[in-house]
Parts: sequence; structure tokens; C-alpha cells
Amino acid sequence: MMDLLIPDKTHDESRQGEALMLKAEAAKNNGRKLYIESYGCAMNFSDSEIVASILAERGFETTSDYSVADVIFINTCSIRENAEQRVRNRLKEFTVAKVKNPGLVVGVLGCMAERLKSKFLEEEKLVDVVVGPDAYRDLPNLIDQVDDGQKAVNVLLSREETYADISPVRLNSNGINAFVSIMRGCDNMCSFCVVPFTRGRERSRDPLSIVAECRDLFDRGYREVTLLGQNVDSYKYSTTGEEVITTNFANLLEMVALINPDLRVRFSTSHPKDITDDVLYAINKYDNICNYIHLPVQSGNSRILDLMNRTYDREWYINRIDAIRRIIPDCAISTDVITGFCSETDDEHKETVSMMDYVKYDFAYMFKYSERPGTLAAKRYADDIPEEVKQKRLTEIVAKQQEYSFYRMQARIGRVERVLIEGFSKKSDKDYCGRSDQNAMVIFPVGENYKPGQYVNVLIERSTTATLIGKVVE
Ligand code: 5AD
Ligand code: SF4
Repeated sequence: MMDLLIPDKTHDESRQGEALMLKAEAAKNNGRKLYIESYGCAMNFSDSEIVASILAERGFETTSDYSVADVIFINTCSIRENAEQRVRNRLKEFTVAKVKNPGLVVGVLGCMAERLKSKFLEEEKLVDVVVGPDAYRDLPNLIDQVDDGQKAVNVLLSREETYADISPVRLNSNGINAFVSIMRGCDNMCSFCVVPFTRGRERSRDPLSIVAECRDLFDRGYREVTLLGQNVDSYKYSTTGEEVITTNFANLLEMVALINPDLRVRFSTSHPKDITDDVLYAINKYDNICNYIHLPVQSGNSRILDLMNRTYDREWYINRIDAIRRIIPDCAISTDVITGFCSETDDEHKETVSMMDYVKYDFAYMFKYSERPGTLAAKRYADDIPEEVKQKRLTEIVAKQQEYSFYRMQARIGRVERVLIEGFSKKSDKDYCGRSDQNAMVIFPVGENYKPGQYVNVLIERSTTATLIGKVVE
């Protein structure tokens, strides 16, 4: 231990020191069990894997059974009011467990932690730790504070943190698909959205660390990575030093695609204002970059888009859709839509419906507008569309989307899809399931010559609105 005290240590010695400290901490926590439950976007699920990794280094083992856990974390989402409500209900169940086991540590991570900060500790008295999305490296410290009988909070946001060096522990993994975070935060100021406040400024992760993580996943048998960011099209990383090299998202896609043709590359989320033709050309150039783009429209009306501060209008969005259709033949497109945004008229809503008619999305996530405290819309505009009107508009677009999902699925009948097998289908272990290049779920009978993690060609014979059904062909 003496070398820890020598001020002028070599790099190696300091690393040895760190390793010793880690070992000591790991021994202290040895066998303590961590349970993490995640809500919200894929980014949140990916963050939970970073948290598990930070704590695994300190001796914590993850468990999928919260009744045996020593530490329970709930990684929360603030995107809509009902997301927060779900989390609160779940938290009540965990705090009941805490009454039975006072040594249990209960923590709130993620976006709600950031939004509500120390208010959480006052409101929910049985919560011990509150940690925002940029402070996960501090978790071992914070758990120590709780072990010493204090409450612990760290909700500092960072301009630099990307957790680039952390190798995530894959939770609930099938060993085939993995999320890889490529950037954090968001600099867009969509007026409805809480994310810039909960996740802070946008920053991109070093591309070499991204490629290294993806290569390692491939070497361990994974066959699909989904590159994650709030707005992947604004990914940008510049090296420092004499010769500055800048990597944009199109470059990054190519770098990851080149790891191996058998590694599928997906990404989410794209932004209509930033998606470039270069990105579309990269998708078209590499067979292993999947032909699937999630391109949230939010509204089909230019006035509403302006109020939402989306920084594009209807024509611009249509132009991007046309570019996708031109550059990538056979590309699936999905979207997000919000109904009943502040002051939206019936005619403006009809323009969202007509956008759906124009694009015929393969898939859509559809929501009623939910005012979030602190956002630009909450400050500037009245949430004045009655609940029944929001719901009626939502019901209308949900029905519309059902039609188009079915239309897109039916169009695949008679075609052969290349499918990456993910495992048994949910309904039967006589069938496998996996996704096509265009991200459609495909079901087909189990066979002797293929297994999960392999690619097969499936002839599509029938479909529902959500799945393609077929048989393997050569
Ligand atoms: N109300 C309703 N939906 C919202 N979204 C984001 N903020 C809100 C809100 N305040 C939706 C958007 C976004 C998706 C992730 O969630 O459609 O693209
Ligand atoms: Fe929810 Fe947005 Fe936070 Fe993801 S970034 S967890 S969607 S609030």
C-alpha cells in the first residue's frame, strides 16, 4: 500500500494503486446483489448496462429477482406524465420491500432523478439515492454514503461524460443484439420535450471506442448492434492535436459496417433536419447497414412544427422522405407522432393524417401531447386541446397506422427475407423468430440446420399487422 502515498508515481504505479483500491472495494461489496429496472427509451436501457458495469467492478452481482437484492435501482423516464406515474407506482412496491429489509438501498436513476432532484428524497421518504444520467461513476461513492446512514444525491450534468471507456455488462441479453451508445444529451430544443433538461448538452463519443466495443461484441458472438443517440445525425467527433480528424455519422456508420459483413448495424434516432444524403448513401452502400430509418415527424402541419420548434416544415420532411426512397430502394420508415399539441386545429391534424397517407409508414409510435413542466411549450403555450379531442385524434391515427402496417407487411408476401435468428418465438418453441433487414419480425419453423445468431433466408407466406410468417428456403 506504501506506493499509494508516493506523490510522484509513474503511470503504471498509479494504475496499480487504482486496481488495489478497486479490489478492496470489490471485496467489501462482495456478493452484494444489484437489481435494476429500466423504463423509457433504449438509451435508458443502455445506461443501466453501464451502471451494472460500474458496480460489477466494485463487487456487485446483478440479479433479476428484486426480492433477493441488496440494492434496487429504478432507471426512470420523464418523457410523458404517464411514464412518471408508472415509475412512481413501481417505486411504491420497492419501498414496501424496504420496510421489511431496512438495510436495502433503493435508488432512483435517470431522467426523473434529474428532473425532480432532491425533491425525490423529501417526497418519497424511502428513497435513499437519487442519481442523474451523467453521474453514474459516482454511484459506488453514493452507495457508501447510504451505507453510512446518509441520503445521497448527484444530479450534476456534464459536458464531457460519454462513459466511453466503460464496457457495459449486457443485461437480459440474448447474446445476439446489443445497444451501443454513441452520444449523449440533446441540443435541439423541441418545445414539448424534457430531454434537453434531463440529459443535458449533446456530446459525441470517441469513434474508436465505439468501433472497439462493436468489434468486441462481434468477437463474442453478437450479430447486431444498434447505435444509439437522441439525434444520431448530429454525431460529430473531432480529434485534438496537430492533425484534426472529424468523424460524422455517415463516417461512423461505415467504420462500424466494415467490422464484419455479418454484423448488422442499426441506429436510432434520426432527425429530419439533420439526416444527410451522405448517411443515406452509406446505408445503401453496405448490405449490413439495415434499410430501416426511424424518422420522427411529430406533426404533418408546418405551423405546428414551428410551434414545436422542430426547425423543419412539411415540405422539408417530404423532401427527406423522397430522398430516402430515391437513394435506398426498399427502405422501411417508422415515425413518432404527437396529437393535440397546443392550439392544433382539426385541419392541422388532418395534415398529420395526410402525411401518414403520403409516407405509408411501416410502423409508428403515437402519443397524446402531455405537458412537461419546464419545457418551452409549458412556458409559452396553453395546453388547450381537450383530452377527448387529443384521444379522438390519437384513435384516428392509430387506426390509420394499423392499415399501413398491414399494407407494408402484405407487400412482403412471396418475397425472400434475410433474417437474423434471435431465438424461439414468443408463442411457441416450435418456431424461431428474428428480424428482417427492414426490421419486421419474422416467424418460421425451427429446423436442424440453423440456430439463433445465424442468418437464414425465409420465404414469406402470410402476415399479420405486426409479423411476417414463412419458411426457410436455401
Ligand atoms: N408529450 C407527448 N409525447 C412526447 N414525446 C416527447 N415529448 C412528449 C410530450 N411532452 C414523444 C415524441 C418523441 C418520443 C420519444 O416521445 O414523439 O419523438
Ligand atoms: Fe425518457 Fe427521454 Fe429520458 Fe429516454 S431520454 S428516458 S425517453 S425522458
